[in-house]
This record gives sequence, structure tokens and C-alpha cells, in this order.
Amino acid sequence: MEQFDAIVLGAGGAGLLAAATAGQAGARVLVLDHADRPGKKILISGGGRCNFTNMGVEPECFLSENPHFAKSALARYTQWDFLALVERHGIAWHEKTLGQLFCDGSARQIVAMLMAECAAGGVEVRLSTGIGEIGHGDGRFRVAGAEAPALIVATGGPSIPKMGATGVAYDIARRFGLSVVDPRPALVPLTLSEGEMPFRAISGVACPAVARAGGMAFEEAALFTHRGLSGPAILQVSSYWRPGEAVSLTLVPGAMDALREARRRMPRARLKAALAEWLPARLADALAGRIGLERELGNASDADLARAAETLEALTFHPTGTEGYAKAEVTAGGVDTAALSSRTMEARSVPGLYVVGEAVDVTGWLGGYNFQWAWASGVAAGRAV
Ligand code: FDA
Repeated sequence: MEQFDAIVLGAGGAGLLAAATAGQAGARVLVLDHADRPGKKILISGGGRCNFTNMGVEPECFLSENPHFAKSALARYTQWDFLALVERHGIAWHEKTLGQLFCDGSARQIVAMLMAECAAGGVEVRLSTGIGEIGHGDGRFRVAGAEAPALIVATGGPSIPKMGATGVAYDIARRFGLSVVDPRPALVPLTLSEGEMPFRAISGVACPAVARAGGMAFEEAALFTHRGLSGPAILQVSSYWRPGEAVSLTLVPGAMDALREARRRMPRARLKAALAEWLPARLADALAGRIGLERELGNASDADLARAAETLEALTFHPTGTEGYAKAEVTAGGVDTAALSSRTMEARSVPGLYVVGEAVDVTGWLGGYNFQWAWASGVAAGRAV
């Protein structure tokens, strides 16, 4: 058995930064991953430019059965700490929108930076290596011919299985007696029944909207697809949506005033023409059909306008489901935070066992929040081992 101070399972964002942190503090660290290259999700993130953090990171931007759990790690390794690391490596960056920070160049720079940090800590990264059975006894963990008193599980969640994502973290947690909050796809498009909208006609149409579900509201773009709803506003609320619940979209804020004004300004026009002033033409068409107000606006009563305004303020859908892990940017749920120390990510009942990153029941909003959780939780464990 080769001896190490810590073995890290998973060479994603959380695992690599945990390993680099521990290595640079003097620990002998081994990273194992079954993939043939490190940081595969980093490489495809942010359209290839990696939205690596967000300037507005706050604990409120994360979902968890315990909303307080993420506070400690996020406070001890902040978005500004990660940004300082990015700048130390000379990586040019920019804010795109809503505090989202991206590389000017390529996500490959973030992976190269993490690998350089690992190299600086003397970390050994073994790729194309399966985990297999994990042995545990006398306070030591044995994996793939290596042994260490600390094991950091950083294998993420099952979203995008075709990239090699698995739920192995949950199997490992259960094997050590830790409970798992039911995982579910999050930041994921929602599917609708054929009956809810004439989708073929508006597939591909995007527009600004306020999407609401599960008591949360997000103002961003919504996109109608041939299967249902997508776009940032929908991905955001999908994490809060539960089967059976409704999702509503405000497409025209202040719709009643806007319609009254349109009636005054263009009395000979039909609803479709007014809607086309505010919304993409194909969507205006579909909505006018759904609202069914046929007469000229000048002949429409306040009650007619109020009925139309109701739809424009809260176009309500009852999704049949989500597009699943194949399309989910992250997995919500995961290893129960009740089993972990919020300061170190160590399992309370299994000294030396740590769980970090997406594998934990902490899920961020869209926009760099999930990577910040990966960095912060990884550093918390890396400092502790
Ligand atoms: P991650 O999944 O990154 O790493 C886990 C590692 O474990 C992988 O290398 C995997 O190969 C390995 N592994 C898994 N199972 C294994 C097994 N059985 N044996 C051995 N190894 C195993 N977030 C964000 O903040 N900004 C963004 O721009 C994006 N963009 C984005 C785009 C797309 C398409 C996706 C799918 C996701 C995002 N995300 C994102 C989310 C972000 O990628 C995610 O939250 C982090 O990568 C999670 O980091 P982890 O290190 O926890 O897991």
C-alpha cells in the first residue's frame, strides 16, 4: 500500500482545490478520478469560458435542507479569494451580467490553474483510475492500492452522466452510515404537456420574464422549447419547483396599465398587435390565441382587459417534469449536511472522512454560485486534513 496523508476522490473543481490546499500545507495528497482528464465540467462550463464565481455570493443563494450550513465555508473562502487566485495566475476575466465572472479566454485556463496549484503542493493526480472497494480500519482508508488517514469525497453528483458523472458519493456516504437527502435534477429545463401551449409555433422564442415557483421569483430570460420551458429564469426556478406544483411567468409587468394605454393609443388594433409591441411576434400570436380576445381594443371592456392582463402577469403552467439528469446543470440534494461539520466538511461519525462540492446537499443558483461552493467547501476540507 502506498501511504498518503489524504486521498481525494474526484478531480473536479472541489477535489482539485481541496488537494492543492492540503498539498501546499505540507500534506502528501493523491487524487483519483476515473475520467481521462481533470475538470471536465469546468471545461464545458459557461459556454467554454467558465462562470467561475459570482460577485454577489451570499448564503441565501444556495438551497439545502439546512440553509445555514454553507455560511461558514463561504465566509472563510470567498469569491474574492478565488478571484485573487485567478488574478495571481494572470487569467483575464470580465463580469458578464448579474455579477457573473467569466474568463476572457477559456475555461481551460481555470483547469490549468488548478493543476498548477496541485503541482505546487506536490499533489499526485491519477486519472483513468476507478475507485473500487474502499477499505476502512484502524482510522485509515484504503482505495486503489493507496492508504491515508483522510479521504475527501469530491465526486460530484449524477448530472450529465454522459460526461462520467455518477452518484458514487451517495453510495460511499451510505456505506459509512451517512444519510443522503434525495437527489434531484436542478437548474434543468421543465417539460410541459402538448395541451399547455402551441409549442411547435413558439419553440425557440426567448423573452425577458419573471419566473415564479416554490415561493421564489427570478427575473431573467425565459425560453420556450419544443418540449417545454428553459432559459435562465426557468433553470433558476426549476431548483425550487417540485412535481405537481405550478410555474408562472410574468411576461408583461404592469399589464393592465399597458393594455389600457394601448386601447387609448391604438383603438382599431387587436390584442395581437399590442402584444407584438412588447413580446416577440410568434409569442404575441400564441398568447393572443390563448387569451381569445377577438374584438378591437377600442371595443374591449375593462373586464376584457383585466382577463388578458391576468394571463400576461401570470401565465401559469403545470410542468409534467424536468428534462432529468441528462440536461441538469447540477444535482440538488446529496449527502446530508446534518452528518458533516460546516467548518471542515468532515463526517461527525467517521473521523477522516470528508465530503465536498456538489456531492453535498448544497446547491447554488445559476451564475457561478455552484463553483464558488465547490471552491469554498474544497478549501475547508483541504485546510482541515
Ligand atoms: P465535478 O462533477 O466537477 O467533479 C467530480 C469528479 O469526480 C469528476 O472529475 C468525475 O469524473 C469524478 N467522478 C465521478 N464519479 C466517479 C467515480 N465513480 N469514480 C471516479 N471518479 C468519479 N457552475 C458554475 O458555478 N458556473 C458555471 O458556469 C457552470 N456551468 C455548468 C455547465 C454545465 C453544462 C454543467 C453540467 C454544470 C455547470 N456548472 C456551473 C455546475 C458545476 O460544473 C458543478 O457545480 C461543479 O463542477 C461541481 O464541482 P465538483 O468538484 O463538486 O464535482
